[in-house]
Amino acid sequence: MEQYFPFQWHITEQCDQRCEHCYIFSGRSGSVITEMPFKDIRTILNNCLDFCGKFDRIPYFYLTGGDPILHKDFWKVLELLQTKEIDFSILGNPFHLTRDVCEKLNRYGCKKYQLSLDGLKTTHDRIRKPGSFDATLEKIPLINEAGMTSVIMTTVSGTNIHEVPGIIDLAVKYKVDVFAFARYCPTSLEKNIRISPEEYRTLLETCWKKFETYKYGETVFSLKDHLWTLFLYEKGLFTIPSELREGIIYDGCNCGISHITIQPDGGVSACRRLESPVGKD
Ligand SMILES: C[S@@+](CC[C@H](N)C(=O)[O-])C[C@H]1O[C@@H](n2cnc3c(N)ncnc32)[C@H](O)[C@@H]1O
Repeated sequence: MEQYFPFQWHITEQCDQRCEHCYIFSGRSGSVITEMPFKDIRTILNNCLDFCGKFDRIPYFYLTGGDPILHKDFWKVLELLQTKEIDFSILGNPFHLTRDVCEKLNRYGCKKYQLSLDGLKTTHDRIRKPGSFDATLEKIPLINEAGMTSVIMTTVSGTNIHEVPGIIDLAVKYKVDVFAFARYCPTSLEKNIRISPEEYRTLLETCWKKFETYKYGETVFSLKDHLWTLFLYEKGLFTIPSELREGIIYDGCNCGISHITIQPDGGVSACRRLESPVGKD
């Protein structure tokens, strides 16, 4: 059976926020914002389709930014994907979502819309921008009611690790379809906001208990971080098949193996969170 090959595609750097941890604006001076022109989007899309054809994979796109909706030709990009019957989701901001926009996104075939929650109100608004927390919570029902899957993603660092359990409670309260978190990869924030392995292990334990409490609710908890596998292995809930096959990786990060990132300047990397260039154009 053919499997998906996901592309994380940063079509623009335009964004209403300048999050203090963001890899896009880390260490940058000046205000040059890169946006991929529509003609390049069309060419790259065809390249991706060729690639998937060659490797017998079904293409899947995560359109992102910045905020992808701010791309000058955003709706033309969606039309292109719809015409070619390609599955896609969006990782974006809450600010330009209205009921009409959400319904339009759904009509164009957007499956999931992911928003970020990086803390409770004070922390989130400090990291992102004032008003961002309330805007995010307000848009969850619009995404759900339009028929898309709502996703909340938390980027965990030493600044917000203690608020993750509270964010999980909020995700459940607001009937988020999927909740996940991932670790901050040091770029612009102070390096001293790192999390010790023991502290992170404790977070996984706390979250696991919360997930158990909420397991009959509407929110699905995605075990996105591959350290979950190690945690489950320790608990005896993940076992490595007894007949180990040489050359098979049983878990870990899939970046560069079954997932790549395309940047607005056409650069391709294994992962956007760390220097991992694969090529360009
Ligand atoms: C670049 S943003 C684009 C979508 C949208 N603007 C948002 O903020 O969710 C996509 C995701 O990357 C995460 N991110 C940005 N910089 C990061 C870093 N240095 N380490 C880990 N995740 C990071 C964000 O927190 C967000 O969850």
